[in-house]
Amino acid sequence: MEEQIVEKNKRYWNDYADLWFGTTALPKYGVRFVTEDDLHFFSDVEGKKVLELCCGSGHSLKYLADKGAGELWGLDLSQKQLDNAKQMLKGSGCNPRLICAPMEADSDIPEDYFDYVFSIYGIGWTTDLAGTFKKVASYLKKDGIFIFSWGHPLHYCVAKSYETGEDEVIDGKLVFSRSYFDESYLKMPVHDTDVTFANRKISTYVNALYDAGFIIERMVEQTDEKSLSDTEDDSPKAQKAKMVPLSMCFKCRKL
Ligand SMILES: C[S@@+](CC[C@H](N)C(=O)[O-])C[C@H]1O[C@@H](n2cnc3c(N)ncnc32)[C@H](O)[C@@H]1O
Repeated sequence: MEEQIVEKNKRYWNDYADLWFGTTALPKYGVRFVTEDDLHFFSDVEGKKVLELCCGSGHSLKYLADKGAGELWGLDLSQKQLDNAKQMLKGSGCNPRLICAPMEADSDIPEDYFDYVFSIYGIGWTTDLAGTFKKVASYLKKDGIFIFSWGHPLHYCVAKSYETGEDEVIDGKLVFSRSYFDESYLKMPVHDTDVTFANRKISTYVNALYDAGFIIERMVEQTDEKSLSDTEDDSPKAQKAKMVPLSMCFKCRKL
């Protein structure tokens, strides 16, 4: 079943790669969320060896190249995304090694090698969270840093309106339709098809990180200041972002 999910998601990312060009990349970590300009998680990246899982169109790699990262590697299961990344990074002076593989699989990525492994809105696609975190730990040097962002699990518990497809907010109250405890795979409709992923609890991430040999230095679940203070925008998404985080981000260190 897991293999079928990865295969189907891969078809989606190959078919729709162009629509995602640079949409979820550093300095952005997520939706209506604080950015790298606020968090400074990559403040000492100069000269460092960096690997991005689910690197997509390569915009985050470019961002870190501009900050002086020494060696850049990217992995993604979609060849179309990697073609876009290659094109985007052409002429930028950085020459990343791009690997086409699912993050769950064994690959030629070296072990005990990287100073940073990171993923911006990628980790949640894994069908094997515990195994993926163990792989990340194996790629990192001791004391290496693992940074990742993903949708906040509460975000996916809120109902969508049948009429508008938007988040369901009634008289200023959020409607929940999915249990926070339900970690079974969910299908998210997108672009006339759907993609599949599991909505995992925070404790599932925390415990899997610990089991893989990480300590968590920071966990962030903060809607950005602009969205919190905006009094004009009363769209369902804006109201929701004031009540629950839409995204989350972890900074961890390999022990
Ligand atoms: C929302 S995009 C994030 C991309 C990236 N942050 C960017 O700046 O373009 C998610 C990416 O994860 C990749 N992906 C999805 N499932 C994956 C898997 N199991 N292994 C590796 N990559 C995967 C997709 O191909 C896609 O490029």
